Amino acid sequence: MERKLVFAVNGERFELAKVDPSITLLEFLRTRTRFTGPKLGCGEGGCGACVVLLSTYDPVSDQVKEFSVSSCLTLLCSINFCSVITSEGLGNTKDGFHPIHQRFAGFHASQCGFCTPGMCMSLFSALVNADKTSRSEPPCGFSKITKFEAEKAIAGNLCRCTGYRPIADVCKSFAADVDLEDLGLNTFWKKGAKDANVGRLPCHDQGKICTFPEFLKSEIKSSVDILDNSKNAGLPESQWYRPSSIRELYELLNSDSFSKSRVKLVVGNTGSGVYKENDLYDKYIDLKGIPELSVIRRDSEGISFGAAVTISRAIEVLKERKESELHSNKRLVFSKIADHMDKVASPFIRNMASLGGNLIMAQRSQFASDVATILLAAGSTVCLQMASERLVLSLESFLERPPCDDRTVLVSIHIPSWSSAIESSSGIDGCIVSEPTREANILFGTYRAAPRPLGNAVAYLNSAFLVHVTLDKISGDLIILNLHLAFGAYGTEHAIRARKVEKFLVGKVMTASVLLEAIKLLKETIIPKKGTPHSRYRSSLAVAFLFKFFQPLVKDLVVPEKNGPVDSSGVAAITEYPNSDINECADISSHRVSHSEQLNNPNVILSSKQLVEFSNDYHPVGEPIKKAGVEIQASGLPFGAFVYSTTPLAWIKGITFNSTLASQKVIAYISINDIPKEGKNVGGSTMFGTEPLFADSLTVCAGQPLGVVVAETQRHANMAARQANVQYSTENLEPPILSIEEAVRRSSFFDVPPVFYPQKVGDLSKGMAEAEHKILSAEVKLGSQYYFYMETQTALAIPDEDNCIVVYSSSQCPETAQGVIAKCLGIPDHNVRVITRRVGGAFGGKAGRATPVATACALAAFKLRRPVRMYLDRKTDMIMTGGRHPMKINYSVGFRSDGKITALHVDIFINAGIAEDISPIMPHTIIGALKSYNWGAFSFDAKICKTNLPTKSSMRAPGEVQGSFIAETVIEHVSSFLSMDATSVRKKNLHTHDSLVLFYEGSAGDAPEYTLPAIVDEVASSSSYLDRLEIIRNFNSCNKWRKRGISLMPLVYRVALRPTPGKVSILSDGSIVVEVGGVEIGQGLWTKVKQMTAYALGQLSVDGTKNLLDKVRVIQADTLSMVQGGWTAGSTTSESSCEAVRLSCNILVSRLKTLKQSLEEKMGTVSWDTLISQANMQAVNLSASTYWVPDSSSMMYLNYGSALSEVEVDILTGGTTILRTDLIYDCGQSLNPAVDLGQIEGSFVQGIGFFMYEEHVENSDGLVVSDGTWTYKIPTIDNIPKQFNIKLMKSGHHEKRVLSSKASGEPPLLLAASVHCATREAIRAARVEFSSTNGPNSSPTTFQFDVPATMPVVKELCGLNNVEKYLEAFASTHQKVEANQVLGTV
Ligand SMILES: Cc1cc2nc3c(=O)[nH]c(=O)nc-3n(C[C@H](O)[C@H](O)[C@H](O)COP(=O)(O)OP(=O)(O)OC[C@H]3O[C@@H](n4cnc5c(N)ncnc54)[C@H](O)[C@@H]3O)c2cc1C
Ligand code: FES
Ligand code: FES
Repeated sequence: MERKLVFAVNGERFELAKVDPSITLLEFLRTRTRFTGPKLGCGEGGCGACVVLLSTYDPVSDQVKEFSVSSCLTLLCSINFCSVITSEGLGNTKDGFHPIHQRFAGFHASQCGFCTPGMCMSLFSALVNADKTSRSEPPCGFSKITKFEAEKAIAGNLCRCTGYRPIADVCKSFAADVDLEDLGLNTFWKKGAKDANVGRLPCHDQGKICTFPEFLKSEIKSSVDILDNSKNAGLPESQWYRPSSIRELYELLNSDSFSKSRVKLVVGNTGSGVYKENDLYDKYIDLKGIPELSVIRRDSEGISFGAAVTISRAIEVLKERKESELHSNKRLVFSKIADHMDKVASPFIRNMASLGGNLIMAQRSQFASDVATILLAAGSTVCLQMASERLVLSLESFLERPPCDDRTVLVSIHIPSWSSAIESSSGIDGCIVSEPTREANILFGTYRAAPRPLGNAVAYLNSAFLVHVTLDKISGDLIILNLHLAFGAYGTEHAIRARKVEKFLVGKVMTASVLLEAIKLLKETIIPKKGTPHSRYRSSLAVAFLFKFFQPLVKDLVVPEKNGPVDSSGVAAITEYPNSDINECADISSHRVSHSEQLNNPNVILSSKQLVEFSNDYHPVGEPIKKAGVEIQASGLPFGAFVYSTTPLAWIKGITFNSTLASQKVIAYISINDIPKEGKNVGGSTMFGTEPLFADSLTVCAGQPLGVVVAETQRHANMAARQANVQYSTENLEPPILSIEEAVRRSSFFDVPPVFYPQKVGDLSKGMAEAEHKILSAEVKLGSQYYFYMETQTALAIPDEDNCIVVYSSSQCPETAQGVIAKCLGIPDHNVRVITRRVGGAFGGKAGRATPVATACALAAFKLRRPVRMYLDRKTDMIMTGGRHPMKINYSVGFRSDGKITALHVDIFINAGIAEDISPIMPHTIIGALKSYNWGAFSFDAKICKTNLPTKSSMRAPGEVQGSFIAETVIEHVSSFLSMDATSVRKKNLHTHDSLVLFYEGSAGDAPEYTLPAIVDEVASSSSYLDRLEIIRNFNSCNKWRKRGISLMPLVYRVALRPTPGKVSILSDGSIVVEVGGVEIGQGLWTKVKQMTAYALGQLSVDGTKNLLDKVRVIQADTLSMVQGGWTAGSTTSESSCEAVRLSCNILVSRLKTLKQSLEEKMGTVSWDTLISQANMQAVNLSASTYWVPDSSSMMYLNYGSALSEVEVDILTGGTTILRTDLIYDCGQSLNPAVDLGQIEGSFVQGIGFFMYEEHVENSDGLVVSDGTWTYKIPTIDNIPKQFNIKLMKSGHHEKRVLSSKASGEPPLLLAASVHCATREAIRAARVEFSSTNGPNSSPTTFQFDVPATMPVVKELCGLNNVEKYLEAFASTHQKVEANQVLGTV
């Protein structure tokens, strides 16, 4: 009988006869169904954009199980008889939206919308499962979910736009224990009003969505034989096998057809997110059909898990409270293992990922597993099947064996039950020694240090310690009987036991000297492999964790740290001690206590406040209406892939493709040779020059496109492109330029046109002469940042008649793409129509950098005369698209003893990569932000270095963010030189209006517009800055291993308005269609434009004009319909587009006014619909367009704001927790406060990423190696401030700005430097405490602190060997005291 794959998607039945076994659920949904809600953000399980709900049905118990999965890793064949719900399945335009969608819209929790369907499904899965628990029924409208669970539900989902706070509000709004007053700005009730009640929220209705359709249940019941694991069950026609026993598995493996095939054993297939597959397999064997591999056995000896048991299921079992195990060591070990496993990946990965798959990856591929480390410490064993042989081994022996071959099967894993092991005096590897006569106790702790405390980030190092101690009744000492010290993930082949240290410690009483000796031995053991990044840091973590674990046992040792289940600073510390001695200084104010409680409490909940002043002057402009189309966003050919160079400078001698399964799917390879003879090899263009589409005979940077592989599917194209063999030669070539230093040495610079070179201020030598002190030639460096828009670059090109082409491009500047495509193809611009509907996040990366993708796609389609689509995989996108400019800066500053700076000179070296792009404007933007203080005299020199690296381009606040950081660095340096508080130095150097005019000629505005000093004062007073400063000093003086810092910074940001077109047309039914030059990239452009249209046409004041908003539709950008669209960039596109629309509306209003009056005279009142239908009859032109050109006198203006951030640094790990941020931003008269608030929060959090987390690393060839979600960590919900208060300040009326509004998209990003500065303060406190310095030019208080301040950087600055220093000092004082006591006795 032919077997078919049967499943349901959103209640619809699918039956497939033959399926490509390698196709994922996501690929199927997006290419073969209309359910395109799930998105492809990374393809490696790291972002959550593809999350769907998967349900299984057990006909015996009649139970449905629901869980979230990442559909990008789930293989379609593995979901036989399952039900899938995507975000469209919850609700849609036709059937009505689900309360989750409605709350996303109402809480303003979606901007570009790309992450939203995945977020919705993660939340939905958490709600469904919470509602199934036996907890008491929640009040009507709520779910049984708790606030903490609700917030954690989206811990693995990334969002690059919103900053997470509003998403957390949506999640918490379902929790019965939420205080609705605590939820942020929303459309359901007015903030602060007394009417916040659940009745105003779209109602949560448990069980409203049928997750498993009845027809599928019936089919399952009536065809049990299909599910029955009979011989060769599975889908053999599709090369998908599902044996029902180990014996059947080996029969298959040993059969002829299998021995000649590429075969893959799979369980959850999440391993393909870790190790990308470069080719296809012929056959798949699903191990989940073998019952033995899914069995869980729990008895007095311990728990055995079949290898196919998922991590989520293992956590559930390990957390179960068995009566017999209450108060016993057993539960301690099991529940601590479960707590640690809760930080492995994210819920939607753990739900599919098996324990066995994890351990096989750790054993075979050196995967940095947590599971292996913690199970190693717990003394686990594994059972292996190797052909006919079955072996039981300790986990340690298993890990140490040569890598398993692909025919070895891991059958089960056994975790012993610790009390029984001790009692029975049998242990693993003979390590447990029974001491039945003495009272024994088990200590167990596990640790991991990773940039994201809640998981979804592989650890720099993980460890787990299991120690058996006994109390010596005579001396009262705890004696170590035996122990397991396991370490992993630090750049080791596999997790290891620190045997030498264990041996040394057996039989010892823990003292400072013993611990110090143990640490010395440990340092000889934990040595990362050569080439492991941050190896010294990783070794120091091993020391830190050992110290954390043992310090409560060291007699008299002050224990300043609280042990909590979650260490808030990036370390999951899961330790529990029977005798732990906690001696931490308490915070001295109630405010601080609540912080402390919050931090040491696993149920950490974010809190926030938003203060927004509304304006009704221009109804509906100024109102926080929800973003246009959010519910739709929430609910939901041949393909090309680039071949790129992996060498920075080389001749291309040839390109060949391996003959593999994937290459058989290739349709064509498009290269420079395919450019029409009328065309040119051009792939990008700015006012400063063009860049080639493909390398010619010479490649000039790693990451440069060489050609495009076109194949049947995107996956096949990607695989084939990765298999390209490029032959390079470096004959007669100079070495490439890969650093700023080398570019300077070889004078490799781009020119800056004089018109773009900014002006110096004052006389530097005079200013220096006035100075009492000078700092000369100090240095600071800033790294790059990748855009990490959730939707990677994409294009679809469709050839049209008459040599024309239509290209759908995810571009921020379709006009530029149009021009470049036309040039490349050798056709006039009017033959190229570029359409951009909306873009899944852009942040500058889809301005210049989208053009090569659109052009290559157009060329492939033009050549093949058929549509071609390109959707870059995350790795290619990260390697090719450049990102923010890295910089090196030298500065010299002169200042007086009171902190007044009299002169500043900066030399700025900007790494631009291989082509100009917009780099020549960087000096202008950097200097613009650097002028935010009154430096007295200010001079600079800026060099744009041309290097053999991918072209760097504009990224949100390009140049400004670096400029303002340089300014803050100078201020910090001066204040530490003078031992002054940095805030007073900042205030001393803030501009007066006069100096502002001098520094910002032409954009400073009038004196009343200069709101900055008032804002800074308000931030300081409203956040109790001075009190908190005192509290922090106190905290630091009595906490050794945690230090806090606080910093307040001002913001001055110049923006420029640009000419922009707009067109408004009223259709015969009264509906309105609007076109603007700008592109909707998630910034709320369309929403503001709709509001402006409604307001401006509302001036007609006829019946119905109050409700015009619903009649307005803004349509996609189309280069043939709206010319001169320009770039969507620089934060001002929304206001410029609004102004163009307002002027167009004014034209229409003036055309309709006379008609209106005459109708009113005849009819009394007149409705909008009547007016428009009459206008049509009287041939009034109902379409108007404008090209708005801003007035040169008000084209540029300044934005102001200020932020105060407080952080806590864990000195042992370098982890930084942002405790609180208070931010005030002058938004003028906001066009839409909800949209502006979203922009402010989102850009601040993106700034946190830049300053603290996002490490953009290249290898020695300049090839980007931070090339996926594994290696590049943008902030998640765990990384945002624990308390985040924002106020939108409404400054006065301004006739020259668009309805008095101001920009909000980019400026707030700069304020995230306050987090970096606060971290510097905390590091300074640590360095003073430990007298640390690093390098010749540093002191405890003065040191170079580059960007980003990742955990290794912070720890290195705090001191890598503080633990050793501390123990040495302690041991020597202790010995002296003891010696004195002995002498005294004598
Ligand atoms: C985004 C992401 C984040 C992650 N973060 C972490 C983390 O922080 N810490 C951590 O420890 N892990 C982490 N993981 C790893 C994750 O735990 C593993 O991918 C998962 O456990 C593998 O299980 P699987 O069932 O999906 O294996 P599969 O992908 O199905 O298989 C993986 C490999 O093991 C083989 N295999 C599977 N089962 C068996 C068996 N029983 N016998 C023989 N061979 C077998 C397969 O042939 C394949 O080669 C992460 C994974 C992802 C995708
Ligand atoms: S696309 Fe699946 S997790 Fe990112
Ligand atoms: S709204 Fe979340 S990524 Fe854009």
